[in-house]
Parts: sequence; structure tokens; C-alpha cells
Amino acid sequence: MGYQQTFRVWRGTDEGGDFAEYDVEVNEGEVVLDVIHRLQATQTPDLAVRWNCKAGKCGSCSAEINGRPRLLCMTRMSTLPQDSTVTVTPMRTFPVIRDLVTDVSFNYQKAREVRSFVPPEGVEPGEYRMQQIDVERSQEFRKCIECFLCQDTCHVIRDHEENKESFSGPRFLMRIAELDMHPLDAAEEQGVNRKAAAQDQHGLGFCNITKCCTDVCPENIKITDNALIPLKERVVDLKFDPIIRRRKRTRKS
Ligand code: SF4
Ligand code: F3S
Ligand code: FES
Repeated sequence: MGYQQTFRVWRGTDEGGDFAEYDVEVNEGEVVLDVIHRLQATQTPDLAVRWNCKAGKCGSCSAEINGRPRLLCMTRMSTLPQDSTVTVTPMRTFPVIRDLVTDVSFNYQKAREVRSFVPPEGVEPGEYRMQQIDVERSQEFRKCIECFLCQDTCHVIRDHEENKESFSGPRFLMRIAELDMHPLDAAEEQGVNRKAAAQDQHGLGFCNITKCCTDVCPENIKITDNALIPLKERVVDLKFDPIIRRRKRTRKS
């Protein structure tokens, strides 16, 4: 059974804007993106929204629904109260291009700063062998759809533009953790210390494990427990474990 609902949608650019209110039809089984599309089709054709798959897999339709970072295509209308207004806003951490579309290039910049996987010398692709437990560990992180909702929600940068230069955010710290845990990554042989880079260049120390990133991840990746905390432990080992430090000193001399 269809019903009418009031939608409050943020309209504007990075220069400024305001909320606009629309009464719109909602039908059984619809998600928020369906209603946004109905608004475009019937009332406001110039409303900007980014989307591609409508299946929770491309990570394009990230926005905030009633203040919570979510995918528009995976938020069922049946999970929102029928008797109150639904507020839809762009992701707050990134500059707005127009209406619900944000400029997420911050994330691409940070991605470029992470040294990619370094293949081990003398092992051809196809000859890589690793234990199943290690495969599973990186597979969890590889489920990431790059929606950047975790980046949007993390308080370190959400209201602190000034921290963006020094903090890469949970998505990219997770990527570093994945590579640091990878048994075949040969970065260290090329003088790249991923643990030191996480702490010194990517701002791991800013993360105070509030787990908000984990809470909003649509892929249910345990970002904090399985990536960030283990990475912090590795950094602590590197800096303070007397045996590791002694080994490093011995190698140098
Ligand atoms: Fe999105 Fe989760 Fe990937 Fe973050 S880790 S970008 S929330 S899928
Ligand atoms: Fe931010 Fe997640 Fe850490 S929300 S503070 S990166 S646990
Ligand atoms: Fe692809 Fe929503 S449209 S994740």
C-alpha cells in the first residue's frame, strides 16, 4: 500500500544552500533512492544524486539519511518511521558539488599515497602460496566497495578539515593493515615500513577506536577490530617491543 511522506532534501552547492521540502509517494518495498528518483521524475528534475548499481555494490549513492551515513539504495523505506519527515543530506565530510553529490577526491588522493603490494622476488604470479587463514584475513578487507561512509563518519575528519592532511581515515588505514599482514608483500625489502608509514604519514595515532566506522560499513567489515587495532598493536611492537628493537639494532650493525 502506498502512502505520502515528507522528504526534506538539502539543495545547493559548496557555496551555500538550504533544505527543500517535498511531499512524495512511497510504495511498498521501496528504498530511499527510489523515492529520490520519483522526486526527480515528478517534482524536481534538477535534483543531483550519484548512483550506479542500485544493489549496494558500487558505493556511489552514499549520503546521510536522518543524519546517519548510509547508502541510499540499501536503506529501505520500511525501516524509517512513516509519520515523520525523512531528511536526506550529502556526506558532511566532503565538499558538496551539488545537492546530494559530494567531491570524494580526498579519498583518491589518500589511496595514491599508500604504497601498493610489492610482489616477492623470484616468485611468478600463479606461484604465490599462502595459508588459507591469511587469504581470509585480506578477503574481509577486500569486500570494501569504497563508499567512503566510514571516512564520512570518522570524527577525526568529520568536523576537522585541518586533520585531513595528516589522517588518511579508516578505509586507507585498513588497506595498510591488509598489506602489512600480507605474508607475500615484499615492501620491507624495498625499504618501505608500512607500520611506520601508518603511524607517521597516515595518522593512525589519531584513531581512538570509537568504532563509528565499523558501525556504518555496509559490507559489515570489522574495520576497527580486525584492521585498526591489530595495526596499532603492530606499531607498538615496532616501537616498544625490546626483542624487535634489539633485532633491528643487530641488523643495522
Ligand atoms: Fe565503505 Fe566499509 Fe569500504 Fe569504508 S570499509 S569504504 S564503509 S565498504
Ligand atoms: Fe575513526 Fe574508526 Fe578510529 S571512526 S576514530 S577510524 S575506529
Ligand atoms: Fe551502487 Fe547504491 S547505487 S551502492
